[in-house]
Amino acid sequence: MGFLTLSTCVVANIQAGYLLLFLLFCNKADSTLRYSVREELAKGYVVSNIANDLGLEPKILTEGGAHIVSEGTKQYFQINKNTGMLLINERIDREQICGEIPNCILYFQLVVENTLQLFRAEVEILDVNDNPPIFPQKEIVITIPEQTPPGTKFSIERAQDLDVGSNTVQNYLVTVNEHFRLDVHTLNDQSKHVELVLVKHLDYEKTRKMSLQLTAADGGEPQRTGTAVVQIIVLDTNDNAPIFNQSVYKVKVFEQNGKNYVALKVTATDLDDGPNGDITYALSHISDSFGRIFKLNNKTGEITVAEALDFEDASVYQMEVQARDGGGLTSFCKVVIEIVDVNDNPPEIFLTSVRSSVPENALPQTVVALLNVKDRDSGGNGDIRCSIRGTQPFKLTSPFKNFYRLVTDGQLDREKKSAYNITIIAIDDGSPSLSSTAVISLEISDINDNLPVFTKTSYAMYITENNNPGALIGCVVATDEDTSENALLFFSVIEKVINGFPLSHFITINSHSGNIFAVRPFDYEQFKEFAFVVQARDSGTPTLSSNATIKLFITDQNDNTPTLLHPSPNDSSFSAEIVPRNAEAGYVVSKVIAVDADSGQNAWLSFHLLKTSDPSLFSVGVHTGEITTVRGITEKDNNRHTLIVIVKDNGQPSLSTTATVKVVITENLSGSNLEIVEEENPDEYDSHLTLYLIISLAVVTVLFLVSVIILLMFKACRIKKSSHPNVLDQNLRSSNIVSFRTSYLDSLARGNIHQGYLQEVPSQDPAKTSSCTEKEQVGPHSLLIDLNNKNEFLQDHQPAANAIPPSHSSYQRVQAILTRPMSTDWQEG
Ligand SMILES: *[C@@H]1O[C@H](CO)[C@@H](O)[C@H](O)[C@H]1NC(C)=O
Ligand SMILES: *[C@@H]1O[C@H](CO)[C@@H](O)[C@H](O)[C@H]1NC(C)=O
Repeated sequence: MGFLTLSTCVVANIQAGYLLLFLLFCNKADSTLRYSVREELAKGYVVSNIANDLGLEPKILTEGGAHIVSEGTKQYFQINKNTGMLLINERIDREQICGEIPNCILYFQLVVENTLQLFRAEVEILDVNDNPPIFPQKEIVITIPEQTPPGTKFSIERAQDLDVGSNTVQNYLVTVNEHFRLDVHTLNDQSKHVELVLVKHLDYEKTRKMSLQLTAADGGEPQRTGTAVVQIIVLDTNDNAPIFNQSVYKVKVFEQNGKNYVALKVTATDLDDGPNGDITYALSHISDSFGRIFKLNNKTGEITVAEALDFEDASVYQMEVQARDGGGLTSFCKVVIEIVDVNDNPPEIFLTSVRSSVPENALPQTVVALLNVKDRDSGGNGDIRCSIRGTQPFKLTSPFKNFYRLVTDGQLDREKKSAYNITIIAIDDGSPSLSSTAVISLEISDINDNLPVFTKTSYAMYITENNNPGALIGCVVATDEDTSENALLFFSVIEKVINGFPLSHFITINSHSGNIFAVRPFDYEQFKEFAFVVQARDSGTPTLSSNATIKLFITDQNDNTPTLLHPSPNDSSFSAEIVPRNAEAGYVVSKVIAVDADSGQNAWLSFHLLKTSDPSLFSVGVHTGEITTVRGITEKDNNRHTLIVIVKDNGQPSLSTTATVKVVITENLSGSNLEIVEEENPDEYDSHLTLYLIISLAVVTVLFLVSVIILLMFKACRIKKSSHPNVLDQNLRSSNIVSFRTSYLDSLARGNIHQGYLQEVPSQDPAKTSSCTEKEQVGPHSLLIDLNNKNEFLQDHQPAANAIPPSHSSYQRVQAILTRPMSTDWQEG
């Protein structure tokens, strides 16, 4: 009992408010009732039979007016007066009354008023585990940097349990996990200290957040628990380097892919977060030139083409790309960009050596040029074939691949083609193929392989006699198909002797122009033609030459007046023609005979009666020169008549001479003639004259006949000797002897007649004929053709022959002369 009291007193001390009352009861009462009861019991719960406990009659309680006086404010207990049972009056919450005090005791007094008895009772309220542990925060947030070392402890505010004793928190539990365990220490006051201990590295990259359930359990029966969520937030540290998703990137890029083409994209990831995971890319280990060709976007990692790619510059690019995170950690990857060739390069032709010219006599296979070809593309794109465009006398030979020789393939002839443009085509094997061309201009240099060529092998030239010294006779034209010096021609004449004089005595040639000049006047009556050879010589080495024959014809000029043969001009008085009076009309009185040293028209004589005493009686045959009577002579007519006959040649201007013919009409021709003559000319001298006249007439006639005979003989001679080369010279010499008749006949046939056929023919090619315009003259041979083909030609032009009718042999003579120029001998000569 004493122990109880003492302990009661101690409690009383704590509960200062009850101290005095307690001491009073301690002194006056001698016993204390003790009960213990669980909290949270329902009202009316019987704690004990207090009457029995006190040893009192229940009726005392009833009659004595017993009641319970609680020491607190609340009346937790009451007494059933009839039964003496102590009952719970109100729910008792230990935690409310005592809090954490382990021994919770309620005190009350039982007062029996009638007997003034006071009994003290104390009721220990026993704890019932009616409160769970409660964490002050339902969510506990702990932030932990990921690199925190294991063993690090994180304190956790402990859970509260209003219960006491074993009903308070006894244990803590945490969700099973690999990173944390709980460390619970019991402190001196029996409270627990809870710590979360890191047992394994946290990796932000794996776990950024953890949720752990922390459970606090009390020791009550039944056990109650409280939970809280521990949120573990892992803080990132830059513990991760960026990582490329490939260590080597390989791409193929076609070289024609232009600027801004995205070749590839490198990607690196960094597990770190924030700046630690911000990656910038950079090219490293790359030369400047590479760096110009590719650009790296330092944010996206795209590698783009920055400059035109050229397989031929580089077919593969290798580079390293660095990725760096914000924390400075780096990693590298390798990028290999292969450039795929596209046939984008045409072949190139390099002429290593080129001859600008080859001589035309170059042998086949003569090398003209050396060349090589190149194609910067690879494979088939770089395989080249070479050829020559068109057909040319050249070909390509290839001693080595891509190396060519351009050689001649056949005979060249500068005169046919003097220059070539040789187009060489190089074509590659790509698809589509590309090609390029080179043109080699080649000149064919001249070799003196062509003779000078005269425009004609023989020329006929004409010059009118009495020319001025230095007169232009004509010109020869020669061309040479070669060029420059090989075609630079000089003309010369090949010396010979003509009529005892050297050729240069007569003519000279301008060595450049080919003009031929007369050195002195020619006289047709002296000689009519001669031939010589002109040589054209080029200046090549060796020099080449060729010959042309010039036949020069001297044409007649009307420089001779007709010469009277009958009547003799010297003694006209002597010549009188005697006409019988009985002569009828048409009686031939006389014949005027004249000759002309000229030829042709110039020697074509006509006769006209210039003056007569009786125009009605006489007439003159225009061509014959015959004086005839027009009518019969009458008695009235005078016996004497003087006729003046004019003899004109047909030259321009024409020359003329006059003949005076005296006519005496006699009655009787036989007897009275002399008489009359006597009468007329009593002078004896006259009759002598007549005699002389007759003699001279006879002489002339004989001479004429002799001439004709000689002429015929010569003609016969010439035909025999026509193969003699010097026929012309001979001819010229002999012509002196017979000049009179031959000149007459020749000129009749050729000299003057052909003048009507003179033409000027412009030369074929003015450029080639130098300064000289060639006089194309229709020569004797064309006349011959006329003679042969048109017999009427001569007949038409024959009238002059009536003056002295040409015999048949004269015709032959004419033809013979005309034929000569056409004979082969002459051409060769
Ligand atoms: C070669 O070509 C040039 C330039 O086109 C041209 O003047 C010349 O006439 C040509 N020559 C030949 C022989 O075709
Ligand atoms: C030209 O004539 C001369 C002299 O007659 C002769 O020596 C020479 O061989 C001739 N030339 C030709 C090409 O016929």
